[in-house]
Amino acid sequence: MFMSSEKVYVRGLRDVAACETKISFVDPYGALYYSGYDIDRLIGRVCFEEVVYLLLNGKLPNKKQLEDTKRTLFSEMKIPNNLLRLCSINRGHPMENLRTIMSSLGEYDSDFEDSYRAGNKKLALKLISQVATIVSAIYRVKNNKEIILPKKEYGFAENFLFMFRGKIADKEEIDALDRYLTLHADHGLNASTFAARVTASTMSDIYSAVISAIGTLRGILHGGAGERVMNMLLDVDNPEEVEAYIQGMLCNGKKIMGFGHRIYIKEDPRSRHLRKISKSLCSRIGKRDLYNKARAIQSVVHKERKIYPNVDFYAALVLNALGVPKEFITPFFASSRIVGWTSHILEQYREAVLIRPTSNYRGAYGTKFVPLDKR
Ligand code: COA
Repeated sequence: MFMSSEKVYVRGLRDVAACETKISFVDPYGALYYSGYDIDRLIGRVCFEEVVYLLLNGKLPNKKQLEDTKRTLFSEMKIPNNLLRLCSINRGHPMENLRTIMSSLGEYDSDFEDSYRAGNKKLALKLISQVATIVSAIYRVKNNKEIILPKKEYGFAENFLFMFRGKIADKEEIDALDRYLTLHADHGLNASTFAARVTASTMSDIYSAVISAIGTLRGILHGGAGERVMNMLLDVDNPEEVEAYIQGMLCNGKKIMGFGHRIYIKEDPRSRHLRKISKSLCSRIGKRDLYNKARAIQSVVHKERKIYPNVDFYAALVLNALGVPKEFITPFFASSRIVGWTSHILEQYREAVLIRPTSNYRGAYGTKFVPLDKR
């Protein structure tokens, strides 16, 4: 009888490198690099569209390349009319709606398959635009509001806020969303990006790879944590209650959403930026109490477990202050991470290797077969 030989097994693939990439690097000591650039140096100095170009092309755009990127992103923001019908299906979580609509969208683009595998980035730009449009349309329809079309004179973040909320955003709001989108665009081989790369590694189509990623992002250990962060913040009435609330959760063996990270052993650099943005947004709209609760949670969790907030913690506050309901926190995350997903999918096509690990079998061998009528 053949007995399988033992293979190295690493639970959760912790510290295992499953691909080589030039797109981004997560430094455990609290830094994040996009194609070589430290995000601390990029934030506030580049717009989201520059980050899109950077992650897809490995270099920052010149003026003409940036203008072309902006023009293409705007022109791809419209979704086919017959797909808008799907946005009007009112049941389900917005992440489920997004997954379904992206899947239908794929049916319109099968002609492009060869060109994007050969490195055509136009389809990636289209998907980047479409996620923001679809997320906005889902929100508008769920709330019986008319769908808003983007405006040519607006940048990506401004159009996203406009299509979602239906009102003109001010400079601080646009800047906040632009920075939010920049900070969420890519993050090494996180779980959803890995899922996208696995699907792309079989030479499946770009839509299937993105849908694998959307399904993976939704989980509460990944991008789904943001919605739970908001639940927690709303659960606690004031900063004075935080200590008892967090102690209670930890005593019951519960994890605090928006804290901890697989890679970082120091503070997540994105969280530092998002904390500042959330403080400023909360202050100006009279939600300082929400921010104070968040600060109190950070201090108790750090005292008890020595762990830091991750990207989802203060991002939830930023989106709340921008008027985004909690069910749409993960869809907003997807609207930015689509940049990383598509960049990695294209890199995986170039790599052209099937990702197919193995497993150590722990079941029985030679089990005696019993016919159906004897079982
Ligand atoms: N709350 C309380 N304790 C936490 C924690 C959290 N959010 N995150 C990690 N820990 C503790 C674990 O209980 C574990 O303690 P132990 O060694 O005493 O058992 C230790 O820290 C290591 O955590 P572990 O779950 O093994 O780390 P991981 O690398 O497998 O998981 C996360 C990383 C992100 C999944 C985990 O930190 C988590 O579940 N966080 C909450 C969900 C979240 O915010 N996800 C978004 C990630 S960006």
